[in-house]
Amino acid sequence: MRILLVGSGGREHALAWKLKQSPLVETLLVAPGNPGTVGMGESLPITDDDIPALVRAAREHKVDMVVPGPELPLVLGLKDALSNEGIACFGPSAFCARLEGSKVFAKNMMRKAGIPTADFRVFEEAHEAREYAKKHPLPMVIKADGLAAGKGVIIAKTREEALEAIDAIMVRRIFDAAGERLIIEEALVGEEASLLAFCDGKTVVPLPSAQDHKPVGENDTGPNTGGMGAYSPAPILPESNLAELTETTITPLIRLLAEKGQPFQGVIYAGLMFTAKGPYVLEYNVRFGDPECQPLMVRLESDLAEIMSACCEKRLAQVPVRWSEKTGLCVVLAAPGYPGSYPKGMAISGLDRAEVVPGVTVFQAGTTLKNGRLVSSGGRILGVTALAPDLVSARSAAYQAADLIDFDGKYLRRDIGAKGIDRAG
Ligand code: AMP
Ligand code: GLY
Repeated sequence: MRILLVGSGGREHALAWKLKQSPLVETLLVAPGNPGTVGMGESLPITDDDIPALVRAAREHKVDMVVPGPELPLVLGLKDALSNEGIACFGPSAFCARLEGSKVFAKNMMRKAGIPTADFRVFEEAHEAREYAKKHPLPMVIKADGLAAGKGVIIAKTREEALEAIDAIMVRRIFDAAGERLIIEEALVGEEASLLAFCDGKTVVPLPSAQDHKPVGENDTGPNTGGMGAYSPAPILPESNLAELTETTITPLIRLLAEKGQPFQGVIYAGLMFTAKGPYVLEYNVRFGDPECQPLMVRLESDLAEIMSACCEKRLAQVPVRWSEKTGLCVVLAAPGYPGSYPKGMAISGLDRAEVVPGVTVFQAGTTLKNGRLVSSGGRILGVTALAPDLVSARSAAYQAADLIDFDGKYLRRDIGAKGIDRAG
């Protein structure tokens, strides 16, 4: 197989690393990739939003399957454009990608499919949203409809915050067209976890559970990031509950899409909250999580290329999807100031030492090569990922390796996995 992987973050390094282990994969191309993927496949200088260039590259390099890492190319219709060329794509159509690209679409689909989700109302006019927000119980959650780089959700604790959020989204348009509509919904309380599933349009195969750490600060304080660390499995969602939870939070959606003639092929990600009233879906993503992908990939024992092509060819039920019993845990090393503004170009050292810690793989995210030296180029720089018999040993291996890596201002959360360790007692 010839595969073109799209993206440049830690998730894509982990996907490249796993795809490269497949005997089915003859050639891997990465657009654009990062220094971590360089040894695994040729880099093509194409960004993830340039659909015509991605399709052209797939055709010219005689690619059998394209694997988009991030949501943007899917929302922009990469799968649809590739299918016109007869090229397979592990990811959903633009129609299905609206599950992530439009929160209004996702909430309406959840309502139709009978999936538990927070009560909500949709607004197209700022004055109507304001009137509603003046009476809605506090706190309330305000969400811009479209893609907003993970910043489109505001949990308003006061009326003033709610009105300010409505003004920022709908009037000042801080997220551009993503703010043409917004949702006001009930605030839920509980621990969060991620449930992902491979889908071929009909068959749904859940991945083991994972838990992300979105806030930048320890004990979940400070602004939300793309994710400061993740581990799998998450004790809050044990293996024994996976099948049942998939049946209530993912399968009805996949069935509804199939009935509409819109089969979902790829990986779907349900962001769950475990409330006193049971598990609720907060959102869907139409791709792997970053960094959840990193601990999941080190646990995957089966052939990722085979699973992905089975999703594209509607034969997922026939392929093995096996996971290590061990725990995977990823600690993100970030630039100081992230997710606000942060410096770039810091020289990175110690990767070689970190990678000899048993069970550890370092996935690169915001890195680049400058005069042959590895330097930082983004907010989330590295994902130090350990595979070990249990959560406590995975955590200690990941932090041991993380402490061997150096760059100016290195920032990391020290409590990745703590919730899981507390819960497991
Ligand atoms: P989303 O992009 O919808 O996952 O929202 C990002 C984060 O906002 C989630 O991970 C939750 O921490 C929080 N969030 C979203 N919706 C709600 C809600 N209805 N109640 C409480 N927190 C929420
Ligand atoms: N880590 C959260 C996400 O990928 O959306």
